Amino acid sequence: MRVIITKDYYELSREASVVISSLINKKPGCVLGLATGSTPLGLYRELVRLHKEEKLSFSSVKTFNLDEYYGLNPSHPQSYRHFMDTNLFRHIDIKPENTFVPEGNIKSEEAEEYCRGYEEEIKKNGGIDLQVLGIGGDGHIAFNEPGSSLGSRTRIVALDARTIADNARFFNKAEEVPRFALSMGVGTILEAREIILLAAGSNKAPILAQALEGPITSMVTASAIQFHPRVTVITDEEAACSLARYPYYKFIRDAEQKINTPLF
Ligand code: PGA
Repeated sequence: MRVIITKDYYELSREASVVISSLINKKPGCVLGLATGSTPLGLYRELVRLHKEEKLSFSSVKTFNLDEYYGLNPSHPQSYRHFMDTNLFRHIDIKPENTFVPEGNIKSEEAEEYCRGYEEEIKKNGGIDLQVLGIGGDGHIAFNEPGSSLGSRTRIVALDARTIADNARFFNKAEEVPRFALSMGVGTILEAREIILLAAGSNKAPILAQALEGPITSMVTASAIQFHPRVTVITDEEAACSLARYPYYKFIRDAEQKINTPLF
């Protein structure tokens, strides 16, 4: 696992944008797995800048989002579809039909079939080349809350009380935060060919250390990335401050620059 420790959030966002833009340059028709939340906002701003100023083209790129609140219409201002449209898709040359976000307003009796279809769509498009992840305060990736099976697939999940409290900042009242979501599973995420996990801010420091350096456990679903052979964690100094192997990650980063190749 590569761990890149950046001096601040801006540099974190830039590093992540370099991983994505290099992939697009190498494989213009690549499939990206995308995340929502505060953490990837800087990355999306940087991708928009690269599109506008450096002609990075998304015209053949396809994207699959990790999750969506269950019960919200796509047009709801807090839906993840709306988040993606306003923070990224509308500002780049991606084709709307190439952007997939789970639909939050399907009927519950259709959910199982719908989730299976979402996974099939990923496969039909060749699988995810690069998955972007954040990490929740409770260690979740996507909405795989503590206790989710490490083999889980796309499904309806119930949100943890901690997640509801964390996400209440985006709603007028905590009672308005949806209690359920559609989420890719941990098993789905691990099938991506490459993963980048982003973490910023001191409030993520304890859980990031558990995820990267603690035991692999369904109680911290982000710890499942330890199974994956091509993971790059990009963290700012604040989120990295509880990592026991901090000096080693810095050493590896220098070593990588010397031999000019990523060391996973
Ligand atoms: P955040 O959310 O980026 O808003 O901290 C991360 C997550 O819940 O996965």
